[in-house]
Order: sequence, then structure tokens, then C-alpha cells
Amino acid sequence: MKKRNILVTSALPYANGEIHIGHLVEYLQTDVWVRFQKLRGNNCRYFCADDTHGTAITISARKKGITEEEFIAGVSRSHQADFAAFGIEFDNYGSTNSPETRAFCVEIWDAIRKAGLVEEREIKQLYDPVAQTFLADRFVKGTCPKCGRADQYGDSCDCGAVYSPTDLIDPVSTLSNTTPELRTAKHLFVEIERVHEFLDDWVSNSGALQPEIVNYLKGQFLSDALWPWDVSRPAPYFGFEIPDSPGNYWYVWFDAPIGYMGSSMQWCKKHGEDSDFWWKNPETEIHHFIGKDICYFHTLFWPAMLKSAGYSLPTKVHIHGFLTVNGEKMSKSRGTFILARTYLNHLNPSYLRYFFATKTSPRVDDLDLNFEEMEARINADLVGNVVNLASRSAKFAAVTGLGDAYPEDGGLFRQAADLSEEIAAAYEERDYGKALRHILECGYRANKFFEDAAPWTIRKELAALEADPAADPAARDAAFKRLQDVATISVNLFRQIVVYLTPILPDLTKQTEELLGCKIESWSDAGRPLLGKTIGTYKHMMTRVPKEGIEAMIEETKNLNKPADTPAEPETDAATAAEAAVSDDQWKDSGQPLLDEPMSDTITIDDFLKVDLRVGRIVEAEQVAEARKLLKLKISLGGAETRQVFAGIKAAYPEPEKLVGRLVVFVANLQPRKMKFGMSEGMVVASGPGGPDVFLTFPDEGAKPGMRLH
Ligand code: MSP
Ligand code: ZN
Repeated sequence: MKKRNILVTSALPYANGEIHIGHLVEYLQTDVWVRFQKLRGNNCRYFCADDTHGTAITISARKKGITEEEFIAGVSRSHQADFAAFGIEFDNYGSTNSPETRAFCVEIWDAIRKAGLVEEREIKQLYDPVAQTFLADRFVKGTCPKCGRADQYGDSCDCGAVYSPTDLIDPVSTLSNTTPELRTAKHLFVEIERVHEFLDDWVSNSGALQPEIVNYLKGQFLSDALWPWDVSRPAPYFGFEIPDSPGNYWYVWFDAPIGYMGSSMQWCKKHGEDSDFWWKNPETEIHHFIGKDICYFHTLFWPAMLKSAGYSLPTKVHIHGFLTVNGEKMSKSRGTFILARTYLNHLNPSYLRYFFATKTSPRVDDLDLNFEEMEARINADLVGNVVNLASRSAKFAAVTGLGDAYPEDGGLFRQAADLSEEIAAAYEERDYGKALRHILECGYRANKFFEDAAPWTIRKELAALEADPAADPAARDAAFKRLQDVATISVNLFRQIVVYLTPILPDLTKQTEELLGCKIESWSDAGRPLLGKTIGTYKHMMTRVPKEGIEAMIEETKNLNKPADTPAEPETDAATAAEAAVSDDQWKDSGQPLLDEPMSDTITIDDFLKVDLRVGRIVEAEQVAEARKLLKLKISLGGAETRQVFAGIKAAYPEPEKLVGRLVVFVANLQPRKMKFGMSEGMVVASGPGGPDVFLTFPDEGAKPGMRLH
């Protein structure tokens, strides 16, 4: 098959906010698509960037007392950390505030000027004399001219009316809370109506758009004259100054899509490639993934600009709907406006990758994240079906290894291999829900095979034959062979499923590669069984969704959105009284701590031994400047073994350097957790309610780093 050249973008996230789970609908589905294309052997590149310009950025930066550049640099780091933690892999992640983007802006601007598309017009705009800035629509509020509702934005009202900010009754600048003035300003407009015919044709006939989008554009926009597009903003404005119109800046939405090119160019420079190969080559496909809210920019303005400047038009604009949570709009007060980082503090990113995939279809409908449904699907599909097959069959495969020839399996492997193109077509069409239905079918069939083959009885038979010195060696070999056959078949049926799931669950693929000692590098790996291999020991691949994790995530989201810095709770009278009562009797300790945190249920010694507690030495300790509560510690376990941990003990140990050298008790086999500032690879043991009242536990003299606590 011919290798396709495929350039892929996701919309550039605004740099004035954090990544939330609504955004992830888009970045995850794009990442899945890109991983799929790469696995198929296509020459595919995924470019994105932060969208950094505009008044909102200036306001946010001012609030923090830093420059816009400093502000967007911090946001970029945090966006990229969030994306990486969810396994979203860009080939390049740039910024619209880059020399590369600026150069493309200049080139495209010149081209659309030459094409006669730019006109200068005088407009009347509201100006805030206190903040010294013209006011974008969203920075003006007032009373709706149509229905009289108060406190409405400058562009539209809850009643559905659309107007311009100058129509508002009693307008107020949200920047300074003062009444703005009407001033005249010269703006530059792109007369997009002049390419109406081209757009009509492209929208209707290119095949780049989903049918519902074609209807929407034809009904809402193309049936009338297209409005000129105001693309300039007077100073002060954080953006690029328009070279032939000093004092004016390109409006953020002019340079935003051009940022796709700027980001590509950075990658091309790094890899010695020509950016025209990607943007001006009929042999290259261009795929944009966006949400329905920004459809208009990508399906009308952007093609008009590309066309006028002699660039390729998008092959496809993949438009998705909006995320609702438990059936409602994401909401801060309900705790469902969940930041990517908050999610990561509590749940495994693979859960969301999987669940969103089950909900992804080529349609523009909104999709719902219902936590109960998510829990049920992950537990049933992944833990109960796919991973279950691995954990059960790997045990036997570890004993027998994989046979040298693929055994007769009643056509199961063939059947799943034959689905390859159908599953691929579903991925290609962005119908991941459909792809998963096929894949899960394979899983059910494989589990049924395993169940029916009942390898545990063969294993028993084999053990009995092995224990019996008088047993016929031929019978022993036959039993071994039967067991090996079942293991070889089950493991291969599992691996086949993992190949198909790779775009969605790259972590599962990594774990499988480790278990089987063999990489999954291509889609066609699903058609070739793995044979003649010994198998490593099975390690946990995925656990059931923890209910507490979901609850804690929602709780944390609610807290994040409470007014900042609520003072610490005053001590209760009862607690103070209890303290006072025991103060003169030095060994009679208060019962308050036990009341605050009652004893847990009884556990067995085996439960306790699951926790690997070790003596560790703090060899580095420093404050994490941006975190209210955290110290970053480096713990030595002796020899070359060290672990990094983030401990919430900053308030209790305000001089971290004093901790360096001390021994602590360390939970050494805790699953590492990605935090905002890096990986946390364990936990130091401490007591106390929190804040300044946290007390580290120090081992007695003589203990050495690495010693286990029993
Ligand atoms: N900066 C513009 C895009 C410029 S592209 C040249 C922008 N940024 S955004 O941060 O608001 O949104 C980025 C993408 O995330 C958009 O495609 C948007 O549709 C998508 N989503 C943002 N919130 C979303 C949901 N709640 N649900 C689904 N997608 C959402 O728009
Ligand atoms: Zn109204």
C-alpha cells in the first residue's frame, strides 16, 4: 500500500486557561487518529501550539504582574505537561507568538492584499479610557437592547439576541468597571464575500466536511452575502503589528490558524524538511480536528486565506461536539469543570482515553461523560474482558512458553485478523466506537475459548503426570503440548487485540511488549502470531476504576473553585478542652487523634506485607515555588537507588535544607504518580492532620537506607 503523507492539527488551545477535560475530547481523539496513521505506516505528523495573542492574555498577565511573554511561557509548560501525561504526542508543539508564525502571517497578508481582499473601514468602537484600550466584545457588559436583561456580554444575550457592543444599554467595561467612550478607529477588513463562489464550491464539493456541517454553512452563511471580517486591532494589543499598517495588530483569529504552519515550520527546520512539502503539495493530506464552536473560522476564513495565498486546502476538517458531564454542561460549582491536572491527581489517564474513544463518532453530536457509565465500561471491557485474558493466560504461558507453530484454534486468529481492514476503516472515519465494538467481540470470543479449554485442568493433569515416576512420558508430553497450545492461542488472541487497541491505549501496548518481549510496530502485527518465545511474569496491567478517585476528583474541583485562601478552620472548643485537660499529666495522651481518624478495618499480615516500607535518606530537599504545600525530596534507598517524591509538608518544614541527611520511613512500592511538577515515586510516612501539623517519622539510630520495615 502507498504511504500517505498526512499533516494533522488540533485546534490551538487558548493560552489564558488550563487544559480541561472538555479540551481533551479533541486532543485525545486526534492523538488516537495520529497513532493509528503511524501504526499503519503512513508518514504522519501532528502539529499544535498555544494560541497566545489577544486582550485576554494581557489582562491575565497584568493580574499576575508579569509580562505577556512570561505568562504564556508558563502556560505553555503547563499545557505541555498535561498533554504528555495523557499520552498525547505531538511532533511539534509551538506557540503562535513565534517568528515562524509571524513570517507566515506576513506572507499570507501580502497575498490577500494582492488578491484585493483587504479594505480599510472606519468603525466606532467602545474605548476604556482608564484601561486605555479599545474593548473587545467580551469586555463590555450591559443591558440587552432587545429584551432588557441586565449584565449581558457585548455580542449576545441569553435571550438569543445578537448585536454589537455599541448597541448595549448602559455599557460597562469589565476591565475597569467604568463607562466606556465611543471612539472612531480605522480597522482592516477581509472582504470574504469576494471569494463567495469559491467557498460555495469548496464547501459543497470538496468532501472535506461532514454533511451536517455543509448544511449548516449553506443555511447560515452561504445563502447570504458574507460579512467582511475585521482582522485588525489598534494598539495596545498583544500580537503581531501589521507591517503595512503601523499601530495596528492582527486580530488573534487571523494568526491563530497560521500558527499551524508556524509549528510545522519549527519541526521542518529541526528535521531539514521543506514546509511546502506539507502545505503546498497535492500529495499531502491536511487534516484539522476542531470543535463545533470554531467551525466558521476553519471552514470559511481559513480556506479563503489558504486559497488566496496559494496553499493547499484542508483535505478534511474533522468537527466534534461538546462534552457534557453527567448529562449537563461542565460546571464549576457542581465540580464537573475538571482540569486535566485534577483528573491526573486521582485517575489513570488510560481510563479517559478509552472512555472518550467509546464515545467518538464521525458526527458532530455532543458527548457525555457519565462517571457511572465510565466505571462500568472500563471494568467490563478492559479489566473484565481484555486484561482478564492476559492475566489468566500469561500464567500458563509462563510455564510452557509459546509453541513453535500456531495450533489449530477453530479459526479464531484468522477471524480477528480478517477484521483488520474493517477496524482500520472505522479508525480512519473517526468512528472509534465502532472499532471498539469489533475489538471487544474478538475479546469475548478469546475469553470463551480460554474458558472452554480450561487450561487449569490440563495443568493439574500435567502436574499429576509429572509427579508420578511410573507415568508414560508420551502422555506427559501430550499434556504439556495441550497446555502450551491453549497458552499460545490465548496469548496471541490477546496480542492481536492489543495491536488493534494501540492507538487508544499506548500504555497497554507498552506493558504487553514487556510481557512478551516483543515490540508492536505495525498494524500488520495483528495478522502474524508470535511463536517460539518464553514469556515474562505477568504484571498488573489495569485495575478497576476506583470510585473514591472519582469522588475525590470532583471534591478537589469544587475546592479549586472556592474563593481563594479560605482561612484554616478555628480549633473546636472540645479539642482545646481535651488538650487542656491532659496538659499537666505528661503520659496521658489525648483521645482526639483517634476521634479525628478512627481505626481502619482489620487486615491480614499478607495485606500489610504488600506495602514495602523502607528506610530512606533524604539527600535533597527543596521548595516547589509554585506549589502551596509541596516539598520536592530526593530519597536515597542506598546504592544508586533514588526516588523523587513530592510531599505535602512545606508548611511543617519551612526550612527544607534542615531535612537533608535525615532518615525517613518510605513507602517504596507505591505506583508512581505524575504530578504537575514531575513524577512522585513514593511517599514518606508522616502523621498529623496537615498544614503545619505534619510530623515525619524518623527511624531509630542504626537503621540504614534500603532496610525493610516489618
Ligand atoms: N484558540 C482557539 C482555537 C484556535 S485554532 C487555530 C480555541 N481555543 S480553546 O482553548 O477554546 O479550544 C480548543 C479546542 O478545544 C477547540 O476545538 C474547542 O472546540 C475544544 N473544546 C473546548 N472546550 C470543549 C468542550 N467542553 N468539549 C469539547 N471540545 C471543547 O478555540
Ligand atoms: Zn436579551
